[in-house]
Amino acid sequence: MDFDPGMNLAEQFRAHAGDRDHLYAHATRGMADDWEAGGPVRQICAGYEDSPPRLMIHLRLLAGIFRLVLTGRAVELRPFYPCLGGQQPPDQAWPLMRAAAAEHIAELRGALDVAPQTNEVGRSAALLTGLFDLVGAAGCDRVRLLELGASAGLNLLLDQFYFSGEGWQYGPADSPVCFPDAVEGPVRPSPFRLTDRRGCDLEPVDVTTEEGRVMLTSFVWPFDLHRHARLAAVLPLAERSPPTVDAASAGEWLAEQLKGPAEPGELTVVWHSITRMYWPESEVQQVLGLLASRGAERQLGQVSLEYGEGAEATAPQLRTSLWQPESGCPVRERLLGTTHEHGIPVRVSAR
Ligand SMILES: C[S@@+](CC[C@H](N)C(=O)[O-])C[C@H]1O[C@@H](n2cnc3c(N)ncnc32)[C@H](O)[C@@H]1O
Repeated sequence: MDFDPGMNLAEQFRAHAGDRDHLYAHATRGMADDWEAGGPVRQICAGYEDSPPRLMIHLRLLAGIFRLVLTGRAVELRPFYPCLGGQQPPDQAWPLMRAAAAEHIAELRGALDVAPQTNEVGRSAALLTGLFDLVGAAGCDRVRLLELGASAGLNLLLDQFYFSGEGWQYGPADSPVCFPDAVEGPVRPSPFRLTDRRGCDLEPVDVTTEEGRVMLTSFVWPFDLHRHARLAAVLPLAERSPPTVDAASAGEWLAEQLKGPAEPGELTVVWHSITRMYWPESEVQQVLGLLASRGAERQLGQVSLEYGEGAEATAPQLRTSLWQPESGCPVRERLLGTTHEHGIPVRVSAR
């Protein structure tokens, strides 16, 4: 996908489609034509015409339509959704999707306000790799984990997942959420215990409600069957031990969490994945400033899985930073490697 920041919505929709042949490629081509022709998609997107590509308006709209299907209000579309057993050819879906959109304009306008809630547990493999790196470097095995832009907070449960690779393993082997060979390259496991875990999100998703589970499901592309299977495996775990995710913006919440002294012998780790692109620049700067200033007072680590700029924008980069008391800037910054957009595999290049 090649997005130019100056693209109008139709161009953004077509850029998403590219020359691909799946349901969402056909749908976004249909959306582009409909937007240009002044159809229901134009009405739904009224007021969003100047949205930059990073806001992913097409994914918000597609998720809104998927929720209509998941909640039984567009049953005629089920045969096109492979995760619901559908096997109909994707190139025939758009006219029915357009009709469903036309019937639910107000709801789908509301759907455009919801930033993509792809709470992807595959990204926990990147978090684990980053934690191993920081724990090993800090020599501290008690970790307080803080997640920014956590969505439902599923990745805060990483110590309930099982990861394994050549010569190493982590987590309960009987976990329903397993990641065999999720990390390519050298892994140096450093044992740690999570003493506390908590996240924030502008729009937290509550996995204990049906609405929350439908929300999460609606952002997983309907033909990504392995991701639907992974989400279905993690949801019961999360319902049993729901992660705490506060409704707050990243900067404001982090300032609150880093107030007061740290527990002695505890490493605070701030983690975020595929969320920074949605933050306003002022918030990016606020978070960076907080890390630098609080890192001068306590042991503080950061694990970040975010897209870079320009040529580095193709794959999320896994980075760690470590601050030690008395130092104003990170004493150790590492680019550990890159990952697939959904987290696995993690390709570790740093030694
Ligand atoms: C693509 S999802 C990623 C969720 C999760 N980090 C993951 O990787 O599975 C992006 C998340 O960032 C949240 N978000 C966007 N802007 C935010 C902000 N300024 N502060 C906190 N969360 C934000 C959205 O609500 C959404 O849940």
